[in-house]
Amino acid sequence: MDNSANRVRAVSAADDEKRLAAEAAAELVESGMTIGLGTGSTVAHLLPAIARRELSEIRCVATSVATEEQARGLGIPVERFDELSRLDIAIDGTDEVTPDGWLIKGGGGAHLREKVVAAAAARFVVIADSSKPVAALRGPVPLELFGFGAASTLARLGGEVEPRDVPPSPDGGTIADYIGAIGDPAALAARLEADPGVAAHGLFPPTMVSEVFIARGGDVERVSIPPR
Ligand code: 5RP
Repeated sequence: MDNSANRVRAVSAADDEKRLAAEAAAELVESGMTIGLGTGSTVAHLLPAIARRELSEIRCVATSVATEEQARGLGIPVERFDELSRLDIAIDGTDEVTPDGWLIKGGGGAHLREKVVAAAAARFVVIADSSKPVAALRGPVPLELFGFGAASTLARLGGEVEPRDVPPSPDGGTIADYIGAIGDPAALAARLEADPGVAAHGLFPPTMVSEVFIARGGDVERVSIPPR
């Protein structure tokens, strides 16, 4: 088999794993729940799986316009996230996950809203294919910079941060990536949060994560992240 055929097979295997993890997580959603919907190609499998459950009286918020549009197209009700004060569950994909539950999110640039939604959820469930687990975070770490003063924030953060060539976020932020060394993720998170121009970074601590569903081949491993 040539290289392009191998690549197609690998992409299709990863997509099958995304679907399996998403379908397992969709089983956690019940009628009457308030639900946070993440963003990305794994979540794109979650939405039809939720729709197929034909649940009643669910209230959902979406972390991106793409998710909102797909959900509405499937008949899943989506509302603005300004009236719900808490969510029963949020389900989202990830770019990387360590064994102790640190995540890097934001490959799709939706990490600010994803973090706000995850923080509001009593249970935050991460769905992943087998390419996502890593022994230690590698990066890059997505950032959202306030649009106000973005050039000055970039200048202050220096050569370790590169703006991403994408449109501003729905909240007007500039999407960028921290490409320097990660080392201790808690220390890096604190360093990034200390800059007044950084609206959000894609480091999600284990304290935010309840469970990770990781699909490998035809199996889904469910890893609980202990509360600290
Ligand atoms: C978007 C995200 C996604 O959850 C993350 O990039 C994983 O995406 P995918 O499910 O397409 O692999 O954080 O901002």
